[in-house]
Amino acid sequence: MKLCIIGSGYVGLVSGACFAEVGHHVICVDNNEKKVAQLLNGEVPIYEPGLEELLHRNVAAGRLSFTTSTEEGVDKSDVVFIAVPTPPQPDGSVDLSYIEKVAREISAVLKPGQYRVIVDKSTVPVKTGEKVADTIRRYNKGSAEFDVVSNPEFLREGCAVPDLMKPDRIVIGGNSERAVALMQKIYEPFMAPVLVTDINSAELIKHAANSFLALKISYINAVARICEASGADVEKVADGIGMDKRIGRNFLNAGIGYGGSCFPKDIAAFIAISEDLGVPFTLLKEVEKINLTQRERFIAKIRETLWVLKDKKIAIWGLTFKPDTDDVRSSVAVQIVQDLVAEGADVVTYDPKGADKAIEFQLIQGARIAQSPLEAAKGAEALIIATEWNEFTKVDLSELKKAMHTPVIFDGRNLLDPETVRSAGFAYTSVGRN
Ligand code: UDX
Ligand code: UDX
Repeated sequence: MKLCIIGSGYVGLVSGACFAEVGHHVICVDNNEKKVAQLLNGEVPIYEPGLEELLHRNVAAGRLSFTTSTEEGVDKSDVVFIAVPTPPQPDGSVDLSYIEKVAREISAVLKPGQYRVIVDKSTVPVKTGEKVADTIRRYNKGSAEFDVVSNPEFLREGCAVPDLMKPDRIVIGGNSERAVALMQKIYEPFMAPVLVTDINSAELIKHAANSFLALKISYINAVARICEASGADVEKVADGIGMDKRIGRNFLNAGIGYGGSCFPKDIAAFIAISEDLGVPFTLLKEVEKINLTQRERFIAKIRETLWVLKDKKIAIWGLTFKPDTDDVRSSVAVQIVQDLVAEGADVVTYDPKGADKAIEFQLIQGARIAQSPLEAAKGAEALIIATEWNEFTKVDLSELKKAMHTPVIFDGRNLLDPETVRSAGFAYTSVGRN
């Protein structure tokens, strides 16, 4: 089938590449000329495992192309996906201006006699589909035929390609049989279970799913506090409750909290949506609060050991919001760098992929950047592990001890084994483990 994806970011670009991989013809549109020029040049603007290979293969096969022209994308495609950002506003509600703008852009180029399915892939508040349809109808000068569908994505950065190629489920929210049939055809090659719903339910599924996953994380972080106070081990507790199939072990990793471009914004949005609808979801406020205080508690532990942070040389491993990505948006690791710099610490960071974006977005001003984990740790009075990159588990502990001024580790992701680290001569503090 012929598909167009408007917005070639973490979601749009990976989705486009995966659709092309299963044989569809895909045009990725983006209004960022620099990004499109890079893509046309064979460069990949983001780091996502497996993506580069996928892009090159499908461009070479003539199934994937890039443009800045919405008109070209819409003209040449049967189905148009919208994957532009839906950032949070200061009060937590969602800024839908990019979605609205793209709806108008599509409307302006839809021609009479052209039937198009317009698919919302961005995470949006319930009822956005109705507004997109109204907007297209209002701005279209002719009598273009179209249907709006909601098709939320559930990809995790860092494993977006396998998540998209082998999804747990596909959710298609649509009120038109014709549109839903086309969507089912697009997803046939993925051989995944498909759930067809009305548009509002599909939109709600995305916010409810992400909120539930965030709730699981805050739940285990609250349990971690009880573990610290009682001498229990949160990893063992998570294993024990996770072995219950009704609960599952996934998303029960305690640490410094969730970050990224989705959870913080989606939970805030779901709270705002529930309030708008007159049914406040107060449980999610507690989820947010636990998440925020998880970082504060971690910094308090550092202060407890190091006493004064001003002028202390502190190494931080990790800047990205999770491993295997270069994404530093709403990263707890970055927030810790900022907290420590604000307290006057001499911070040196290392991240395998995230440093360039952190510098580009001016997120770690006042901190230095090292080229390797050991270089960051050189002369440090403490080391913080803020992202669980596999590379960090490979660092030789005796080399690390030699490099540091005082061998003190704060492991915010429970990456290392306490016994191993302590027997190598380190003072070691993690989350929910004594
Ligand atoms: C997405 C979503 O669409 C968001 O709703 C979801 O919650 C998280 O994932 P993401 O792919 O991470 O966002 O965003 P980003 O990497 O910023 O990519 C968005 C792209 O859209 C950018 O390349 C930007 O240049 C482009 N864009 C933005 C347009 O092409 N047109 C616009 O009007 C605005
Ligand atoms: C998430 C959802 O998982 C995905 O389905 C949705 O489409 C987009 O949002 P993503 O934000 O890419 O994906 O990553 P995810 O793996 O969910 O991690 C989010 C944050 O939670 C990270 O900061 C991670 O470190 C943290 N996390 C995750 C924990 O602290 N503990 C866990 O057990 C799992």
